[in-house]
Amino acid sequence: MEIEKKRRASVRERADAIKAFRCKNLIAVIEDPSDIKNIGTVIRNANALGVEKVYVVDPRGALPNDWQDMRERRSLARTSVSAVKWTFVKRFDGTEACLKHLEKKGFVSVATSPHVKGKASVYLHEGDYTQHTKLAVWFGNEKRGISDLAVQGSEMCIAIPMFGMIESLNLGTSSGIVLYEVAKQRRAYQSRYRRSRRKGRRAEPLPTVMPRDGS
Ligand SMILES: C[S@@+](CC[C@H](N)C(=O)[O-])C[C@H]1O[C@@H](n2cnc3c(N)ncnc32)[C@H](O)[C@@H]1O
Repeated sequence: MEIEKKRRASVRERADAIKAFRCKNLIAVIEDPSDIKNIGTVIRNANALGVEKVYVVDPRGALPNDWQDMRERRSLARTSVSAVKWTFVKRFDGTEACLKHLEKKGFVSVATSPHVKGKASVYLHEGDYTQHTKLAVWFGNEKRGISDLAVQGSEMCIAIPMFGMIESLNLGTSSGIVLYEVAKQRRAYQSRYRRSRRKGRRAEPLPTVMPRDGS
């Protein structure tokens, strides 16, 4: 009983400590993923990197509709190492429904692809991901990549530069790399400004990383 109390207190402490470092209004969208392991990995990456939510375009109906039910799905809990319990996940039947929902909520979408696509194509390190208060970053299907519809609905398409002989990175890996850069930039922004459009500059920037264990 005492041990359980202590465990809960330390979970609460951690949940409070990470709050200030989370990127509000940043959503990772996975479009039609076919492998539950990749869904779990993206949720894990989103949680670890402070991304607020994950949306899944799930035309195959692999996931339950309700987040509570997803939290109880063992395959998701296992593949996300329980991150699904902490990071909100919402499913959509199709790309159009997801784009419409995001648009209605005022989110700007950006797509990711190893290929040049859409209105503007940038390398990951060249992009400024702080220009929009609400940002959704889309990742495509393992085989087919991101759909034309998602690209059309996106302001730009981000590519991680590739230096090898293979065409692309895997979905989980690329989500980690892209979300790291996007979240890093947005945390730096949040540390300096209270509001959008570089308004509400703080006298002293807030820290952008958590104090390390033991320090
Ligand atoms: C295995 S890849 C899909 C490969 C597919 N043949 C294609 O044409 O995109 C799965 C997803 O990971 C992301 N991805 C993989 N490599 C990437 C890269 N170099 N730059 C940006 N995103 C990448 C994209 O979201 C892509 O849709």
